[in-house]
Amino acid sequence: RIAYVNGLYVPHAEAVVHVEDRGYQFADGVYEVCEVRGGHMVDERRHMERLVRSLNEIRIRLPMPLAALGVVLRETVRRNRVRNGFVYLQVTRGVARRDHYFPDPETPPSIVVTARAADPAKGEAVAAQGIAIITVPDNRWERVDIKTVGLLPNVLAKEAARQAGAREAWFVDRDGNVTEGGSTNAWIVTGDGKLVTRPAESGILRGITRTVIMEVAEKLQLRVEERAFTVKEALGAREAFVTSATNFATPVVRIDGQSIGDGKPGPVARALRENFHKVAE
Ligand code: PDD
Repeated sequence: RIAYVNGLYVPHAEAVVHVEDRGYQFADGVYEVCEVRGGHMVDERRHMERLVRSLNEIRIRLPMPLAALGVVLRETVRRNRVRNGFVYLQVTRGVARRDHYFPDPETPPSIVVTARAADPAKGEAVAAQGIAIITVPDNRWERVDIKTVGLLPNVLAKEAARQAGAREAWFVDRDGNVTEGGSTNAWIVTGDGKLVTRPAESGILRGITRTVIMEVAEKLQLRVEERAFTVKEALGAREAFVTSATNFATPVVRIDGQSIGDGKPGPVARALRENFHKVAE
């Protein structure tokens, strides 16, 4: 395997950054995960737009034009011979003596890109079964709209899920409303067939998959309601599912040990998943 690190393509085993990288010391950086399908990046433009937004929000200046970054992403995919899988991109504020203030003079950001193959059949098997999730208090900071590498609450929540025999954790805010998953957006389907997901204005990352699923829903003539929903409403929902670049739409069949609907993947989530790649670019 090959990784791109600050201008060089190097063997994955030798792909390292400095101990004083601000990503390492302060989680002072952002990232993107993009699906690769048939050798092409899915929704590359939207991922690049969100990357630029994340960088702007934390005031890291991208040291190369977006077009050049696109070349690096595609080259990393190509060099790893990935047909189906994922590409990971991380940009941090760079290497400087440890000091909380932004480096002055400015240091060049560190850019790392990796790509790996993933067997689509494995994801399909998981989706066919449906996943169990748990709920945990949302103890994250307010700026979860930024796709930062500061993911400790997400790591702890997802590990707690695994310990409980589940795959994902849904964060719940102080009002009892679900915000999102540890690495996914959260959705339910109401008794009258409406899709409900939290508005992206607060408490969540605006998932690229979330946006595409809204377009899929429109194509399937399903109604989407962007509003908060509680754990209680989710427990009584007809269906639930999660979305992300790595999951597309994956049915949720159990929340905190309680079955959702008939305890099997629902038809709406299945239809959204089946149609996802017809709409995603
Ligand atoms: N996670 N919410 C959170 C907290 C996420 O980390 C992610 C993505 C999403 C879904 O966003 P998108 O549809 O753009 O992938 C929502 C990536 C896949 C990860 O951390 O691996």
